[in-house]
Amino acid sequence: MRHALNVLADELRRLKTAGVKHVAVSDEAIATLRRVIAGKKAKGEERCEKPEPLKPALMVSAPAVPLPHLPSPISHLLPTAPAVSLPPGDKATRWAALLDLVTNDATCRANVRPGKKIVLGVGSVDAKIMFVGEAPGAEEEIQGEPFVGPAGQLLTKMIQAMGLKRADVYIGNIMNWRPHMPTVDGREQAGNRPPTEAEMRYCLPYLRAQIEVVNPDLLVALGKTAAEGLIGFRTFKSLGEIRGQWRDFGGKSLMVTYHPSYLLRPPVDNRKKRIVWEDLLKVMERAALPISEKQRGFFLDK
Ligand code: URA
Repeated sequence: MRHALNVLADELRRLKTAGVKHVAVSDEAIATLRRVIAGKKAKGEERCEKPEPLKPALMVSAPAVPLPHLPSPISHLLPTAPAVSLPPGDKATRWAALLDLVTNDATCRANVRPGKKIVLGVGSVDAKIMFVGEAPGAEEEIQGEPFVGPAGQLLTKMIQAMGLKRADVYIGNIMNWRPHMPTVDGREQAGNRPPTEAEMRYCLPYLRAQIEVVNPDLLVALGKTAAEGLIGFRTFKSLGEIRGQWRDFGGKSLMVTYHPSYLLRPPVDNRKKRIVWEDLLKVMERAALPISEKQRGFFLDK
């Protein structure tokens, strides 16, 4: 409880430094604070400290719309990244152990809002191709599954255009929680922001562990955050500089392309779709997937 009050005090100090002069506090929030200060349990506290466990599902987002950078209330208090060590066993056993670790990670739990879920990855543990995104959005933190919102639906279509099913590939994210943005009067968070470097560094061991377990032949980084997480911070200036090129990630081929949310952002045009599709054609070639003439011609302006 003391920790929660310290976090709140830190956040208020941060807002003051940022020039914020007024903070709206609802009657409900004041009542909760009074209860906290009096040492009584706040309504719904159990739920807050114990998010529902993830279902070990097999499948796949909300657009990670770049918004002004606002660190989460506790992002500057993150401990050192976890040392993830998995037991021996088959892939399913090791994945289940990883799910258990991330679901019980105190930092991940502290960063997940009441009633929302920690998100690991989804898909086939035998996948040859693994897609890596940024962070859960609104839908993902509800369902506990990556890429199930609008960007996820587009990603699913892209996978299908490659002649695959969503369940044939593996889909993970850099982050295991939805990066916080301040909300007013306890309302639901409306937008998304990119994770901070500290948040990414905290969650990266869980992504590396998924890569280790699934052991795909090919990795596809979707967007800048995924590329930074896999290639390294401050190693490139813009995504346009590095997309469409093969990179190495621990001996695995890594293709960098734009995030599906980029394709959903106006102007929605075939030029952007074609750029991403060309990157995916390269992935299909390297994965020795059959490519038809129709597939080669997608999004080419007549
Ligand atoms: N955007 C991502 O990068 N990942 C998700 O899971 C959803 C949206």
